[in-house]
Amino acid sequence: MNYKHAFHAGNFADVFKHAVVLALLDALTAKDKPLCYFDTHAGSGRYLLNDEPAHKTGEWREGILRLFDLPDAPPPLQRYVDAMLAFNPDGDLRIYPGSPLLAAHALRANDRLVLCELQDDEAIALRALFRNDPRVHVHQRDGYAALKALLPPAERRGLVLIDPPFERQAQEFRVMEAALGEAHARFPGGVHAAWYPIKQRAAIKPFERWLASRAFKNVLLAELLVRADDSPLRLNGCGMAIVNAPWRFDSTLASILSVLQPLLAQGKGASRRLQKL
Ligand SMILES: C[S@@+](CC[C@H](N)C(=O)[O-])C[C@H]1O[C@@H](n2cnc3c(N)ncnc32)[C@H](O)[C@@H]1O
Repeated sequence: MNYKHAFHAGNFADVFKHAVVLALLDALTAKDKPLCYFDTHAGSGRYLLNDEPAHKTGEWREGILRLFDLPDAPPPLQRYVDAMLAFNPDGDLRIYPGSPLLAAHALRANDRLVLCELQDDEAIALRALFRNDPRVHVHQRDGYAALKALLPPAERRGLVLIDPPFERQAQEFRVMEAALGEAHARFPGGVHAAWYPIKQRAAIKPFERWLASRAFKNVLLAELLVRADDSPLRLNGCGMAIVNAPWRFDSTLASILSVLQPLLAQGKGASRRLQKL
């Protein structure tokens, strides 16, 4: 495996994914009952934007930097910007929190986090980051297999984030479908969110058809394209498929997308899409 998330930390795809994850956790923590956050592909949890490799690619300059000092964002997006400020309190953007750190920041003392990461150095960094946080359980193992082994959580409430690196390209969709099906079967009341890349639209269609063919409830697709989806060579956009979306989460997504789409556009054909399946 060659993938290192540090190359991409804070890019447009991270911004969109993390704003949605925080909004989902906010919806879930509106109730007092404890919950479990499950991250199948956790990464190292924290990225330094001025160090290599994030500095070299500079992808975050077309992502988080564009909204770090955004005035008057709508509440679900302001929530994300506030979290970024909490990690960079002097207003100088240096640290980008990955999904595990953002979730840990948003969750409460009686919630739990289960984080899976396969690569040695990422898993070591992840363990070190959370060594003093008793809510967090780091597993160095295949996150897909962990869904089978560890779901449902004792809390019977929570969010499962499936966020693979898509090194297998289109084949990853088939693996993700199997994992999502398994996760839902084991934890039917959980909220399940799967991130996917968009290069060319045709590659997404079978996944969409698969989602629509399942007996899942409250399925939402939210997509952000920073340019037209017409090239297999670049990441033109990304989407989040959400199963068991919280009540009225479509309006939360609409509000996030309405601001992010013009702000993160990189070329002709930038667009957004929100679909109930
Ligand atoms: C897209 S990154 C994760 C980013 C992270 N979720 C975030 O939003 O901050 C994908 C991560 O999955 C890890 N990975 C790849 N295959 C895996 C697998 N089968 N199980 C667990 N982790 C895996 C990679 O090492 C990489 O760190």
